[in-house]
Amino acid sequence: MAAKKKSPPANKPKADQSAVLRRHAEEQYADELAALAAADERPKPPNWNLSPWAVKTYLLGGTLDDGTEITPKYVGNERLIEIAVATLATDRALLLYGVPGTAKSWVSEHLAAAISGDSTLLIQGTAGTDESALRYGWNYARLLAEGPSEAAMTESPMLRAMATGKICRVEELTRIPSEVQDTLITILSEKSLPVPELNTEVQATRGFNVIATANNRDRGVNELSSALMRRFNTVVLPTPDSLEDEVEIVRSRSEQLGRALELPAETPALEEVRRVVTVFRELRDGLTDDGKTKLKSPSGTLSPAEAISVVNSGTAMAAFYGDGVLNARDLASGITGAIVKDPVQDRVVWQEYLQTVVKERDGWGDFYRACREAL
Ligand SMILES: Nc1ncnc2c1ncn2[C@@H]1O[C@H](COP(=O)(O)OP(=O)(O)O)[C@@H](O)[C@H]1O
Ligand SMILES: [Mg+2]
Repeated sequence: MAAKKKSPPANKPKADQSAVLRRHAEEQYADELAALAAADERPKPPNWNLSPWAVKTYLLGGTLDDGTEITPKYVGNERLIEIAVATLATDRALLLYGVPGTAKSWVSEHLAAAISGDSTLLIQGTAGTDESALRYGWNYARLLAEGPSEAAMTESPMLRAMATGKICRVEELTRIPSEVQDTLITILSEKSLPVPELNTEVQATRGFNVIATANNRDRGVNELSSALMRRFNTVVLPTPDSLEDEVEIVRSRSEQLGRALELPAETPALEEVRRVVTVFRELRDGLTDDGKTKLKSPSGTLSPAEAISVVNSGTAMAAFYGDGVLNARDLASGITGAIVKDPVQDRVVWQEYLQTVVKERDGWGDFYRACREAL
Protein backbone atom coordinates (compact mmCIF):
# COMPACT_ATOMS: atom_id res chain seq x y z
CA MET A 1 0.00 0.00 0.00
CA ALA A 2 1.38 3.34 -0.95
CA ALA A 3 1.89 6.02 1.61
CA LYS A 4 -1.25 8.03 1.50
CA LYS A 5 -1.31 11.66 2.18
CA LYS A 6 -4.32 13.15 3.81
CA SER A 7 -4.69 16.86 3.54
CA PRO A 8 -6.33 18.47 6.54
CA PRO A 9 -10.06 19.01 6.06
CA ALA A 10 -10.76 22.36 4.46
CA ASN A 11 -13.06 23.46 7.26
CA LYS A 12 -10.34 23.21 9.90
CA PRO A 13 -8.19 26.31 9.65
CA LYS A 14 -4.88 26.29 11.47
CA ALA A 15 -5.06 28.31 14.66
CA ASP A 16 -3.51 31.75 14.65
CA GLN A 17 -0.09 30.91 16.04
CA SER A 18 0.19 34.01 18.20
CA ALA A 19 -2.99 32.99 20.03
CA VAL A 20 -2.01 29.39 20.60
CA LEU A 21 -1.47 28.64 24.27
CA ARG A 22 1.34 26.18 23.76
CA ARG A 23 3.07 25.99 20.42
CA HIS A 24 4.69 22.80 19.16
CA ALA A 25 8.44 22.70 19.57
CA GLU A 26 9.06 22.81 15.80
CA GLU A 27 7.07 26.03 15.60
CA GLN A 28 8.34 27.69 18.74
CA TYR A 29 11.96 26.97 17.87
CA ALA A 30 11.61 27.21 14.08
CA ASP A 31 14.40 29.81 13.89
CA GLU A 32 16.87 27.66 15.78
CA LEU A 33 16.00 24.61 13.70
CA ALA A 34 16.44 26.58 10.48
CA ALA A 35 19.80 27.96 11.62
CA LEU A 36 20.97 24.48 12.55
CA ALA A 37 19.84 23.06 9.21
CA ALA A 38 21.75 25.81 7.40
CA ALA A 39 24.93 25.19 9.40
CA ASP A 40 24.67 21.41 9.26
CA GLU A 41 27.15 19.78 6.91
CA ARG A 42 27.39 16.43 8.63
CA PRO A 43 25.84 13.24 7.29
CA LYS A 44 22.18 12.73 8.08
CA PRO A 45 20.44 9.43 8.55
CA PRO A 46 17.85 8.80 5.81
CA ASN A 47 14.90 11.18 6.00
CA TRP A 48 16.23 13.06 9.02
CA ASN A 49 15.99 16.84 8.91
CA LEU A 50 19.26 17.25 10.80
CA SER A 51 22.42 15.29 11.51
CA PRO A 52 22.84 13.66 14.92
CA TRP A 53 25.33 16.40 15.76
CA ALA A 54 22.77 19.11 15.04
CA VAL A 55 20.02 17.27 16.93
CA LYS A 56 22.28 17.07 19.96
CA THR A 57 23.17 20.75 19.68
CA TYR A 58 19.48 21.59 19.45
CA LEU A 59 18.80 19.73 22.69
CA LEU A 60 21.83 20.79 24.71
CA GLY A 61 22.33 24.27 23.27
CA GLY A 62 25.41 25.96 21.85
CA THR A 63 26.63 28.72 19.59
CA LEU A 64 26.83 28.17 15.84
CA ASP A 65 29.68 29.48 13.68
CA ASP A 66 27.48 32.31 12.40
CA GLY A 67 26.83 33.39 16.00
CA THR A 68 23.31 31.98 16.32
CA GLU A 69 22.57 31.01 19.90
CA ILE A 70 20.84 27.67 20.36
CA THR A 71 19.08 27.61 23.73
CA PRO A 72 19.53 24.49 25.85
CA LYS A 73 16.33 22.47 26.07
CA TYR A 74 17.71 19.71 28.27
CA VAL A 75 20.08 20.38 31.15
CA GLY A 76 21.97 17.32 32.21
CA ASN A 77 24.24 14.54 31.06
CA GLU A 78 25.37 15.05 27.47
CA ARG A 79 26.02 11.35 27.02
CA LEU A 80 22.38 10.46 27.65
CA ILE A 81 21.28 12.67 24.79
CA GLU A 82 23.95 11.21 22.52
CA ILE A 83 22.74 7.69 23.27
CA ALA A 84 19.13 8.73 22.71
CA VAL A 85 19.87 10.35 19.35
CA ALA A 86 22.13 7.56 18.14
CA THR A 87 19.50 4.96 19.06
CA LEU A 88 16.96 6.66 16.85
CA ALA A 89 19.30 6.25 13.88
CA THR A 90 19.33 2.48 14.39
CA ASP A 91 16.56 -0.08 14.07
CA ARG A 92 15.89 0.03 17.78
CA ALA A 93 13.32 2.29 19.33
CA LEU A 94 13.99 4.61 22.24
CA LEU A 95 12.44 4.30 25.69
CA LEU A 96 12.84 7.27 28.03
CA TYR A 97 12.35 6.05 31.53
CA GLY A 98 12.35 7.69 34.96
CA VAL A 99 10.34 9.26 37.75
CA PRO A 100 7.65 11.81 36.78
CA GLY A 101 8.86 15.31 35.97
CA THR A 102 12.32 14.46 34.68
CA ALA A 103 11.72 15.84 31.17
CA LYS A 104 10.87 12.58 29.39
CA SER A 105 7.99 14.07 27.42
CA TRP A 106 9.90 17.29 26.91
CA VAL A 107 12.96 15.52 25.48
CA SER A 108 10.77 13.29 23.33
CA GLU A 109 8.97 16.27 21.84
CA HIS A 110 12.22 18.07 21.05
CA LEU A 111 13.83 14.97 19.54
CA ALA A 112 10.86 14.46 17.24
CA ALA A 113 10.84 18.15 16.30
CA ALA A 114 14.54 18.16 15.47
CA ILE A 115 14.63 14.84 13.62
CA SER A 116 11.32 14.81 11.76
CA GLY A 117 10.30 18.47 11.99
CA ASP A 118 7.08 17.17 13.50
CA SER A 119 6.39 16.40 17.14
CA THR A 120 2.65 15.92 16.70
CA LEU A 121 2.52 12.22 15.82
CA LEU A 122 1.64 11.34 19.36
CA ILE A 123 -0.21 8.52 21.07
CA GLN A 124 -1.11 9.16 24.69
CA GLY A 125 -1.03 5.86 26.54
CA THR A 126 -3.90 5.27 28.94
CA ALA A 127 -5.64 2.24 30.39
CA GLY A 128 -8.21 2.79 27.64
CA THR A 129 -5.76 2.82 24.73
CA ASP A 130 -6.87 0.11 22.31
CA GLU A 131 -5.25 -1.41 19.25
CA SER A 132 -6.80 1.04 16.85
CA ALA A 133 -4.85 3.85 18.54
CA LEU A 134 -1.63 2.11 17.52
CA ARG A 135 -2.82 0.67 14.21
CA TYR A 136 -5.83 2.06 12.38
CA GLY A 137 -9.56 2.36 12.73
CA TRP A 138 -12.45 2.76 10.37
CA ASN A 139 -14.69 5.55 9.34
CA TYR A 140 -17.84 3.52 9.88
CA ALA A 141 -20.08 5.59 7.63
CA ARG A 142 -17.75 4.94 4.71
CA LEU A 143 -17.10 1.38 5.73
CA LEU A 144 -20.82 0.63 5.64
CA ALA A 145 -21.43 2.55 2.46
CA GLU A 146 -18.42 1.42 0.45
CA GLY A 147 -17.02 -1.61 2.24
CA PRO A 148 -13.43 -1.80 3.42
CA SER A 149 -11.14 0.41 1.39
CA GLU A 150 -8.11 2.53 1.95
CA ALA A 151 -10.33 5.59 1.97
CA ALA A 152 -12.46 4.16 4.77
CA MET A 153 -9.45 3.63 7.03
CA THR A 154 -8.58 6.15 9.71
CA GLU A 155 -4.87 6.26 10.28
CA SER A 156 -3.28 6.24 13.70
CA PRO A 157 -0.31 8.55 14.31
CA MET A 158 1.80 5.39 14.20
CA LEU A 159 0.61 4.49 10.73
CA ARG A 160 1.20 8.00 9.52
CA ALA A 161 4.72 8.03 10.97
CA MET A 162 5.48 4.72 9.27
CA ALA A 163 4.17 5.91 5.93
CA THR A 164 6.00 9.22 6.05
CA GLY A 165 9.23 8.08 7.69
CA LYS A 166 8.86 10.17 10.84
CA ILE A 167 9.16 9.71 14.57
CA CYS A 168 6.05 8.54 16.41
CA ARG A 169 5.83 9.33 20.13
CA VAL A 170 4.11 7.03 22.58
CA GLU A 171 3.55 8.70 25.94
CA GLU A 172 3.21 6.64 29.13
CA LEU A 173 3.73 3.30 27.42
CA THR A 174 3.33 1.37 30.67
CA ARG A 175 -0.22 2.58 31.11
CA ILE A 176 -1.30 0.80 27.95
CA PRO A 177 -2.75 -2.66 28.63
CA SER A 178 -0.21 -5.42 27.99
CA GLU A 179 -2.10 -7.07 25.14
CA VAL A 180 -2.28 -3.75 23.32
CA GLN A 181 1.43 -3.10 23.95
CA ASP A 182 2.11 -6.30 22.01
CA THR A 183 0.91 -4.61 18.83
CA LEU A 184 4.10 -2.60 19.01
CA ILE A 185 6.27 -5.69 18.79
CA THR A 186 5.28 -6.40 15.17
CA ILE A 187 5.63 -2.77 14.26
CA LEU A 188 9.08 -2.49 15.78
CA SER A 189 10.47 -5.82 14.63
CA GLU A 190 8.82 -6.25 11.21
CA LYS A 191 8.61 -2.52 10.51
CA SER A 192 5.31 -3.20 8.90
CA LEU A 193 1.68 -3.24 9.86
CA PRO A 194 -0.58 -5.83 8.29
CA VAL A 195 -4.04 -4.70 7.19
CA PRO A 196 -5.82 -8.04 6.83
CA GLU A 197 -9.14 -6.42 5.90
CA LEU A 198 -7.56 -5.12 2.72
CA ASN A 199 -5.19 -8.02 2.31
CA THR A 200 -2.25 -5.67 2.38
CA GLU A 201 0.26 -4.05 4.70
CA VAL A 202 1.79 -0.70 5.44
CA GLN A 203 5.56 -0.81 5.35
CA ALA A 204 7.54 1.68 7.35
CA THR A 205 9.69 3.98 5.28
CA ARG A 206 13.17 5.11 6.25
CA GLY A 207 13.32 7.62 9.04
CA PHE A 208 10.50 5.95 10.96
CA ASN A 209 11.14 5.21 14.61
CA VAL A 210 9.38 5.33 17.96
CA ILE A 211 10.12 7.25 21.15
CA ALA A 212 8.21 5.93 24.12
CA THR A 213 8.15 7.39 27.63
CA ALA A 214 7.34 5.52 30.80
CA ASN A 215 7.62 6.13 34.49
CA ASN A 216 8.14 3.74 37.31
CA ARG A 217 6.37 5.68 40.02
CA ASP A 218 2.77 5.49 39.03
CA ARG A 219 -0.44 3.73 39.72
CA GLY A 220 -1.73 1.42 37.03
CA VAL A 221 1.61 0.53 35.58
CA ASN A 222 1.70 -2.53 33.32
CA GLU A 223 5.13 -4.04 33.10
CA LEU A 224 6.66 -4.24 29.67
CA SER A 225 7.17 -7.75 28.35
CA SER A 226 10.73 -8.78 27.69
CA ALA A 227 9.85 -9.28 24.02
CA LEU A 228 8.89 -5.62 23.83
CA MET A 229 11.77 -4.40 25.99
CA ARG A 230 14.19 -6.02 23.57
CA ARG A 231 13.03 -3.69 20.80
CA PHE A 232 13.95 -0.65 22.85
CA ASN A 233 17.13 0.99 24.04
CA THR A 234 16.32 2.41 27.43
CA VAL A 235 17.67 5.76 28.55
CA VAL A 236 16.94 6.64 32.16
CA LEU A 237 16.48 10.36 32.76
CA PRO A 238 17.56 11.14 36.32
CA THR A 239 16.62 13.99 38.60
CA PRO A 240 19.28 16.70 38.21
CA ASP A 241 22.68 15.95 39.69
CA SER A 242 23.60 19.31 41.12
CA LEU A 243 21.73 22.10 42.82
CA GLU A 244 23.07 24.53 40.21
CA ASP A 245 21.68 22.48 37.31
CA GLU A 246 18.31 22.20 38.94
CA VAL A 247 18.15 25.91 39.74
CA GLU A 248 18.99 26.67 36.12
CA ILE A 249 16.26 24.33 34.82
CA VAL A 250 13.63 25.82 37.09
CA ARG A 251 14.73 29.41 36.50
CA SER A 252 14.82 29.20 32.71
CA ARG A 253 11.59 27.24 32.34
CA SER A 254 9.59 29.43 34.70
CA GLU A 255 10.90 32.51 32.97
CA GLN A 256 9.80 31.10 29.59
CA LEU A 257 6.39 30.08 30.93
CA GLY A 258 5.87 33.42 32.67
CA ARG A 259 6.63 35.20 29.43
CA ALA A 260 4.30 32.98 27.43
CA LEU A 261 1.48 33.66 29.89
CA GLU A 262 2.30 37.38 29.87
CA LEU A 263 2.23 37.55 33.66
CA PRO A 264 2.65 41.16 34.76
CA ALA A 265 5.47 40.38 37.18
CA GLU A 266 9.23 40.57 37.22
CA THR A 267 11.11 37.42 36.37
CA PRO A 268 11.61 35.45 39.57
CA ALA A 269 14.76 36.33 41.50
CA LEU A 270 17.39 33.62 41.50
CA GLU A 271 17.39 33.60 45.31
CA GLU A 272 13.73 32.55 45.54
CA VAL A 273 14.19 29.85 42.91
CA ARG A 274 17.21 28.58 44.77
CA ARG A 275 15.24 28.29 48.00
CA VAL A 276 12.44 26.30 46.38
CA VAL A 277 14.91 23.97 44.69
CA THR A 278 16.94 23.55 47.88
CA VAL A 279 13.84 22.56 49.84
CA PHE A 280 12.79 20.10 47.13
CA ARG A 281 16.21 18.51 46.89
CA GLU A 282 16.68 18.17 50.61
CA LEU A 283 13.28 16.57 51.13
CA ARG A 284 13.74 14.31 48.11
CA ASP A 285 17.18 13.14 49.22
CA GLY A 286 16.20 12.89 52.89
CA LEU A 287 19.28 14.88 53.83
CA THR A 288 20.19 18.54 54.21
CA ASP A 289 22.51 20.13 51.68
CA ASP A 290 25.40 20.20 54.14
CA GLY A 291 24.94 16.46 54.72
CA LYS A 292 24.45 16.98 58.47
CA THR A 293 20.76 16.39 59.16
CA LYS A 294 18.74 13.37 58.10
CA LEU A 295 15.17 14.13 57.03
CA LYS A 296 12.00 12.22 56.30
CA SER A 297 10.85 12.40 52.69
CA PRO A 298 7.26 13.26 51.78
CA SER A 299 5.17 10.88 49.66
CA GLY A 300 5.05 12.85 46.40
CA THR A 301 7.79 13.18 43.79
CA LEU A 302 9.45 16.53 44.15
CA SER A 303 10.73 16.85 40.61
CA PRO A 304 11.98 19.89 38.70
CA ALA A 305 8.56 19.94 37.02
CA GLU A 306 6.87 20.48 40.40
CA ALA A 307 9.35 23.19 41.33
CA ILE A 308 8.60 24.93 38.03
CA SER A 309 4.89 25.01 38.80
CA VAL A 310 5.50 26.26 42.34
CA VAL A 311 7.58 29.16 41.01
CA ASN A 312 5.07 29.77 38.27
CA SER A 313 2.02 29.93 40.50
CA GLY A 314 4.01 32.08 42.94
CA THR A 315 4.75 34.48 40.09
CA ALA A 316 1.04 34.64 39.27
CA MET A 317 0.27 35.41 42.94
CA ALA A 318 2.90 38.15 42.94
CA ALA A 319 1.53 39.58 39.73
CA PHE A 320 -2.12 39.69 40.68
CA TYR A 321 -2.19 39.98 44.48
CA GLY A 322 1.30 41.09 45.42
CA ASP A 323 3.67 43.82 44.33
CA GLY A 324 4.80 42.06 41.15
CA VAL A 325 7.99 40.78 42.73
CA LEU A 326 8.01 37.12 43.74
CA ASN A 327 8.59 36.74 47.48
CA ALA A 328 8.29 34.05 50.15
CA ARG A 329 4.61 34.76 50.79
CA ASP A 330 3.72 34.22 47.14
CA LEU A 331 5.54 30.90 47.16
CA ALA A 332 4.32 29.52 50.47
CA SER A 333 0.93 28.09 49.50
CA GLY A 334 2.28 26.54 46.31
CA ILE A 335 5.18 24.90 48.05
CA THR A 336 2.95 23.59 50.84
CA GLY A 337 0.59 22.12 48.26
CA ALA A 338 3.44 20.45 46.40
CA ILE A 339 4.86 18.85 49.52
CA VAL A 340 1.74 18.01 51.52
CA LYS A 341 0.08 15.45 49.25
CA ASP A 342 -0.97 13.22 52.12
CA PRO A 343 -2.77 15.46 54.62
CA VAL A 344 -1.49 13.59 57.67
CA GLN A 345 1.97 12.12 57.11
CA ASP A 346 3.34 14.72 54.72
CA ARG A 347 2.16 17.49 56.99
CA VAL A 348 4.21 16.09 59.84
CA VAL A 349 7.25 15.75 57.59
CA TRP A 350 6.90 19.33 56.38
CA GLN A 351 6.37 20.75 59.88
CA GLU A 352 9.39 18.92 61.17
CA TYR A 353 11.49 20.20 58.30
CA LEU A 354 10.32 23.77 58.87
CA GLN A 355 11.17 23.56 62.58
CA THR A 356 14.51 21.82 62.39
CA VAL A 357 15.97 23.17 59.16
CA VAL A 358 14.22 26.24 57.77
CA LYS A 359 13.82 28.06 61.09
CA GLU A 360 17.52 27.81 61.86
CA ARG A 361 18.74 28.88 58.44
CA ASP A 362 20.28 32.36 58.12
CA GLY A 363 18.23 34.73 55.99
CA TRP A 364 15.30 32.32 55.70
CA GLY A 365 13.14 33.98 58.40
CA ASP A 366 10.64 35.38 55.90
CA PHE A 367 10.34 32.00 54.23
CA TYR A 368 9.83 30.24 57.55
CA ARG A 369 7.08 32.62 58.66
CA ALA A 370 5.29 32.49 55.30
CA CYS A 371 5.31 28.68 55.22
CA ARG A 372 4.11 28.44 58.82
CA GLU A 373 1.24 30.74 57.98
CA ALA A 374 0.29 28.71 54.92
CA LEU A 375 0.05 25.44 56.84
N1 LIG B 1 16.90 18.09 33.09
C1 LIG B 1 15.99 18.95 32.62
N2 LIG B 1 16.32 19.85 31.68
C2 LIG B 1 15.40 20.72 31.22
N3 LIG B 1 14.12 20.78 31.62
C3 LIG B 1 13.74 19.90 32.56
C4 LIG B 1 14.64 18.95 33.11
N4 LIG B 1 13.96 18.22 34.03
C5 LIG B 1 12.70 18.68 34.04
N5 LIG B 1 12.55 19.69 33.15
C6 LIG B 1 11.31 20.44 32.91
O1 LIG B 1 10.27 19.82 33.61
C7 LIG B 1 9.06 19.94 32.89
C8 LIG B 1 8.28 18.64 32.93
O2 LIG B 1 8.89 17.67 32.23
P1 LIG B 1 8.07 16.49 31.53
O3 LIG B 1 8.75 16.19 30.25
O4 LIG B 1 6.61 16.77 31.46
O5 LIG B 1 8.30 15.32 32.59
P2 LIG B 1 7.99 13.77 32.48
O6 LIG B 1 7.43 13.49 31.11
O7 LIG B 1 9.32 13.13 32.70
O8 LIG B 1 7.04 13.48 33.58
C9 LIG B 1 9.39 20.43 31.51
O9 LIG B 1 8.93 21.74 31.40
C10 LIG B 1 10.90 20.42 31.46
O10 LIG B 1 11.34 21.57 30.81
MG1 LIG C 1 5.51 12.83 30.61
